[in-house]
Amino acid sequence: MSHLTADLLAFIERWLPPPPARVVEVGCGDGSLTLHLLSAGFEMVGIDPHAPEGDCFQRTTIEDFRPTEPFDAAVAVGSLHHVADPERAAASLHSNLRSGARLVLSEFAVEHLDEGARRWLAEHGARGQFDHDYSDVIPLAALERALAARFALLVREPTAYLALELGREDLARPERAGIAEGTLRPVGMRLVYERIDTPR
Ligand SMILES: C[S@@+](CC[C@H](N)C(=O)[O-])C[C@H]1O[C@@H](n2cnc3c(N)ncnc32)[C@H](O)[C@@H]1O
Repeated sequence: MSHLTADLLAFIERWLPPPPARVVEVGCGDGSLTLHLLSAGFEMVGIDPHAPEGDCFQRTTIEDFRPTEPFDAAVAVGSLHHVADPERAAASLHSNLRSGARLVLSEFAVEHLDEGARRWLAEHGARGQFDHDYSDVIPLAALERALAARFALLVREPTAYLALELGREDLARPERAGIAEGTLRPVGMRLVYERIDTPR
């Protein structure tokens, strides 16, 4: 199960302005989403320190990105929690997007990978699966604080992140149920913002 599911692609395209909008993908990785959106008619730039070769890619960080023209929208999938400095990343997104531009994110809430999540994983045959060192990962709350000063929140939607990362489609429904019942805090979150002109 690729993490670029049909559901995620539909979410992204639902919230982006229609093609041929000019869109930057932040942290484009191997470039799959940038190329997908390019073939859907968007004018795309994918940025990443490890971006692939190609006309629509640039090897840079969001903090250092200096495009010649502002973008109509930005999209980032699982990338912003890796930035070195959320304030600089949010400021760069703000200055590189036009007035009213959309920011469409799929993010990881490391702080919700807590005892409840570990208990839930153990109960579903995945004990120890997320026992990694996340010390350099930016918590979603810090990212949201940096973005809230410069963008208005339109959508905040929990996702079945654990099931997706485990490649266990059968766990998506129990994960969503745990989130809805309040026994599991959401580890994945989809967010949509709109740029505000005057940072708060
Ligand atoms: C978990 S990967 C996700 C890649 C891709 N979006 C995907 O969904 O497969 C995170 C990506 O963010 C990139 N990245 C890390 N820090 C970054 C920064 N400051 N600015 C832009 N991209 C960054 C990494 O190089 C990596 O490719």
